[in-house]
Amino acid sequence: MESQCDKSNDVKDTGGYLGYSDTYGGYMGGQAELLRVPYGNFVPFVVPEDAELEDEQILFLSDIMPTAYWGVDNGGVKKGDTVVVLGCGPVGLLAQKFAWKKGAKRVIAIDHVDYRLKHAKKCNHVETYNFEAVDDLDQYLLELTKGGADVVIDCVGLEAKRTPIEKVETTLKLQGGSLGAFNMAANIVRKFGTISVVGVYGLTYNMFPFGHLFERNITLKMGLAPVIHYMPKLFEWIQSGEMDATDIITHRLPITEVAHAYQIFDNKDDQCIKVVLKP
Ligand SMILES: NC(=O)c1ccc[n+]([C@@H]2O[C@H](COP(=O)([O-])OP(=O)(O)OC[C@H]3O[C@@H](n4cnc5c(N)ncnc54)[C@H](O)[C@@H]3O)[C@@H](O)[C@H]2O)c1
Repeated sequence: MESQCDKSNDVKDTGGYLGYSDTYGGYMGGQAELLRVPYGNFVPFVVPEDAELEDEQILFLSDIMPTAYWGVDNGGVKKGDTVVVLGCGPVGLLAQKFAWKKGAKRVIAIDHVDYRLKHAKKCNHVETYNFEAVDDLDQYLLELTKGGADVVIDCVGLEAKRTPIEKVETTLKLQGGSLGAFNMAANIVRKFGTISVVGVYGLTYNMFPFGHLFERNITLKMGLAPVIHYMPKLFEWIQSGEMDATDIITHRLPITEVAHAYQIFDNKDDQCIKVVLKP
């Protein structure tokens, strides 16, 4: 389970990650034409020569596909479950696909960006709700699901829309970012249900709804995805055609346009969901 590797992070006791500066081992960048790959004897997954797959079909094996699957698997989604996925970014959209694959009977997706919700409905055939457009969506979902979701998968994390207080507290480093998505997960999971947190959160939080989780017997699961661990299984599904993530690609750009690519992803311009950079 390499995401908790003991050796690759000299800075603190987690695994090492490319592109997270000092927090996860100080490995610079992940998006360059060339880069030095630490532990290069372990990290690569060999795609057989005769696989007859396009690069784009296997590209997402390197992060978001195993991450999304991890969220579903770690959340224990099983046949007949009602699953709510918070977030319709690349990770959330793939988590929705995997929730169906695990046998969920109902998959509900939440976001506040309409074009992403539309994509979720069209490509993943999920029920969708815009949390800014429905009054008291938490209560509505509790009623809709007759007591809450079996599993809620938080594919949002600290970048969720911040309240004014969270903005101030985050600036003062009293708060590790927004708890908006997590609070929603806590409110809409059923008693004895599970929250699986995939979205990345900051270190410290005030007003964490601890008692609300405790008194309703909620299981909380989370963490950095052990991506390499899941690659062989997911590769099989790609090869057999059981899983195809390419519908999330909205833009293909040369690496020279990387700044523009980040901008449209960040601002959610031009209906951007996922950009593939071509070296
Ligand atoms: N755990 C891991 O190992 C791992 C690996 C890769 C990515 N991630 C994390 O997964 C998360 C999702 O990644 P992504 O690429 O899909 O990001 P993204 O920013 O494209 O998607 C997040 C989506 O959540 C929506 N959103 C914002 N506030 C919300 C709320 N309160 N409720 C519901 N939806 C809300 C946004 O509009 C956006 O569409 C990020 O936090 C990313 O860092 C985790």
